[in-house]
Amino acid sequence: MAKRILMVCLGNICRSPLAHGIMAQMLPDSFVDSAGTGLYHIGSPPDPRSIEVAKLNEIDIQYQSSRQFEPKDFGDFDHIYVMDRQNYRDVVAKAKTLDEVNKVELLCEAADMGSVPVPDPYYGNDDGFQKVFDLVNNACGRIVKKLEENDA
Ligand code: 4NP
Repeated sequence: MAKRILMVCLGNICRSPLAHGIMAQMLPDSFVDSAGTGLYHIGSPPDPRSIEVAKLNEIDIQYQSSRQFEPKDFGDFDHIYVMDRQNYRDVVAKAKTLDEVNKVELLCEAADMGSVPVPDPYYGNDDGFQKVFDLVNNACGRIVKKLEENDA
């Protein structure tokens, strides 16, 4: 069940690197990557608070490097999971076909957890990163189960 999965947030330093690391660990045979819709942090490693919360959960994301989402990603990935509605609008704005639009889903919606965003923890305290980890971990687990069911 190898899939090509892209996780997207704004800066690609807080939320999507966690989603990237979590999904890569859940689906070791799949190609998982992450990107940001913004330009602020290109080439930067994840935020130290994301690295730390991942490490506490035995996931190593320190070698990831932030990059910007590009239209080519629509061809390179089967599923594009975005963290919030603004990410959704920004990614879909770059789509050229309905097929490309249909690859884009809100992470929690794809996980049947309702239309809730993964909140941006950047300006909050460390607690926000653990909350993001738990939410994304839960969502990824549910998505993996659905992908496996669809493949069966
Ligand atoms: P992320 O968080 O989208 O989860 O990576 C953010 C990181 C940086 C900024 C905003 C959100 N920023 O404005 O620099």
